[in-house]
Amino acid sequence: MCKKEIGNRYKIQHYSDLADEDRILIDNASNATSNSYAPYSEFSVGCAVLIDDGSIITSANQENCAYPSGMCAERIALYYAGCVIRKNGTDYRNIKTIAISAKDKYSNLATAFPCGACRQAMIEFEVQRKKQPIRILVHQKDNSVAVFESVKDLLPMSFDF
Ligand code: THU
Repeated sequence: MCKKEIGNRYKIQHYSDLADEDRILIDNASNATSNSYAPYSEFSVGCAVLIDDGSIITSANQENCAYPSGMCAERIALYYAGCVIRKNGTDYRNIKTIAISAKDKYSNLATAFPCGACRQAMIEFEVQRKKQPIRILVHQKDNSVAVFESVKDLLPMSFDF
């Protein structure tokens, strides 16, 4: 028998220490929480996706009275990026960074790490994009940001053929 351990590699930066590009993306994710439809959980998640050409796509979680019919903020943005018609030769599947910010029912900043299904959706984009890995920024309730340099750092041992 041999015991093994795996973990998540990430760094923590305070919001005010972020590079402009990252801070703007966190702001976009935070503002996007206002588009959340979350009458059941009262938990608003906003996501902002930075494309290689500098475009930003934002999204927010959308719930449904038939609970499983709802959708997480992250997958809404990712699948939208996959559907955007190529503009000026830009393939919107070329995602550089994904930022996530959330608010609880009192509108206080909350920490929301992407769920397993969203991580799996993210890794599909990363594997297809053969250039650099996709970065993930998770806004935390103390206004620090967890920075993952690759989806693989968020989802080690992911499924692959
Ligand atoms: N949610 C997201 O939008 N992203 C995640 O990665 C996890 C959870 C949403 C789903 C639901 O609307 C609410 O947060 C509470 O689970």
